[in-house]
Amino acid sequence: MTQELTSPSPAPQAPGTGRGPGWWRDAVIYQVYVRSFADSDGDGIGDLRGARERLPYLKDLGVDAVWLTPFYASPQADGGYDVADYRAVDPLFGTLQDADELIRAAHDLGLRVIVDIVPNHTSDRHPWFQDPELARQRYLFRPGKGESGELPPNDWESVFGGPAWTRTDRGDWYLHLFAPEQPDLNWDNPEVHAEFEAIMRFWLDLGVDGFRVDVAHGMIKAPGLPDIGHGAQAQLIGAQMLPFFDQDGVHAIHRAWRRLLDGYGDARGKQVIGVAEAWAPTAERLALYVRPDELHQAFNFQFLNAPWQSDALRSVIDASLAATASVGAPTTWVLSNHDVVRHTTRLGGSLARARAATLLMLALPGSAYLYQGEELGLPEVTDLPDEVRQDPAFFRGGRATGAVGPGTDTESAPDGAAAGGQDGFRDGCRVPLPWSGELPPYGFGPGGSWLPQPADWGGLTVAAQTGDPASTLELYRAALELRRRLPGLGDGPMSWAPAPDGVLAFTRPGLLCTVNTLGHDVGLPAPGTPLLSSAPVTVDDATAQLPGDSCTWWAI
Ligand code: NOJ
Repeated sequence: MTQELTSPSPAPQAPGTGRGPGWWRDAVIYQVYVRSFADSDGDGIGDLRGARERLPYLKDLGVDAVWLTPFYASPQADGGYDVADYRAVDPLFGTLQDADELIRAAHDLGLRVIVDIVPNHTSDRHPWFQDPELARQRYLFRPGKGESGELPPNDWESVFGGPAWTRTDRGDWYLHLFAPEQPDLNWDNPEVHAEFEAIMRFWLDLGVDGFRVDVAHGMIKAPGLPDIGHGAQAQLIGAQMLPFFDQDGVHAIHRAWRRLLDGYGDARGKQVIGVAEAWAPTAERLALYVRPDELHQAFNFQFLNAPWQSDALRSVIDASLAATASVGAPTTWVLSNHDVVRHTTRLGGSLARARAATLLMLALPGSAYLYQGEELGLPEVTDLPDEVRQDPAFFRGGRATGAVGPGTDTESAPDGAAAGGQDGFRDGCRVPLPWSGELPPYGFGPGGSWLPQPADWGGLTVAAQTGDPASTLELYRAALELRRRLPGLGDGPMSWAPAPDGVLAFTRPGLLCTVNTLGHDVGLPAPGTPLLSSAPVTVDDATAQLPGDSCTWWAI
């Protein structure tokens, strides 16, 4: 049965403001995990200068914007998500001038720049936490339970494993939903609000076009910090309501930030955006983060987490589009990031599925985020020796993938190991990019690389794939070029079309997309002329043979 799914029309915009139709509604945004993207100085750690030098590559790839993961001053207890100074660049990554030059260079190329903001917690090295008096007001300190306060104030667990509380020398306890080096801020304190608005203005003044809001669902905790009553809390994140995540109170913060972003943008004739990293139990609750007066985008982790099955994919797509349409927002698709197993590996260790999933994602209405290296078809690295690992969850015995990221696609990867990354930790998706050459560090920089790269990545480098029409890199380039050429593909309507079991088919302005999720060929009447396919598709006597695990865009 054909079902019409109309994506929402853009909200009316005030004339004369910089809001326009909303560049972000259909933008393709490339995540640069700075420490693993490109190293300019040979210390083995990617940096801002390295990223700036590679911007032409991103322009040529065809993305609209880049999102830079945290490069702020930080002891790096959690890859920079433990910020000690929100207005300084960590010397590992360069200087403020490097950030300024990167933003300018990106703008010169027509690329927008989004930076991370980390409001749920700071580093324990932040000056606020270092000052006992300030710390008591601006973080979440509580007395312990037990006769002499020797027990944590409640039963909450850190998403990196172990209790979410650490006792200080003074005898009280502070909350850290992540590592002990990441104390949670007290968002009941107006000074915390004021500081984050000032931080945003600082980076907006430097020219950024938006913020990716880390743990956007976390700042407000349920009153009284109630016990949960059972363990394995990390497995419940995103599946049910927890007293520390997705509390209604977070929305007032997002509304205030939207006013700030709109006001700033209107005054300068530009649009600056917020994208929520939010884990909510349902598509409807996630949509609350993108109401017209809240953030602009929210990563759709339910899509990321869907198994490679046509029914499951269709229902997650329907639920996502319906939920975001109900608030007039586009859907923000994503398949990989620095917290989850790369989708080549997650989808059963199948590059064919990964390529098909990407073409499916890029054919859907809305915006999409790409994670560096997925355009090369990089797999998760699953054999890192313990001594090189840096994921704090590894040292706390947690399962970061299921905690800060989604659950796993055990259907596609029944061995569990591939599904959960190397033991469920996150270093395997953060291995530095291979740019050129036959040997590590494959052009990543003049020195080595902070995580070892596999010996067999020579064929996966940017240089090796460039110009090879069968390569994953050229598939991404072609898809992004078509997205630009076909008006309405990003933000226009979508209708499901009839298709055999295991196959999805839908029309978009200018094309029909078929996705064969089965492991074998499926024949069907050719719907048009193939425009782009993740695997060679054949058409004989008006019958198309869709290869197993493939996606094809057809001109209709
Ligand atoms: C989500 C980030 O993506 C992840 O890398 C980090 O560990 C947590 N938030 C805590 O900041």
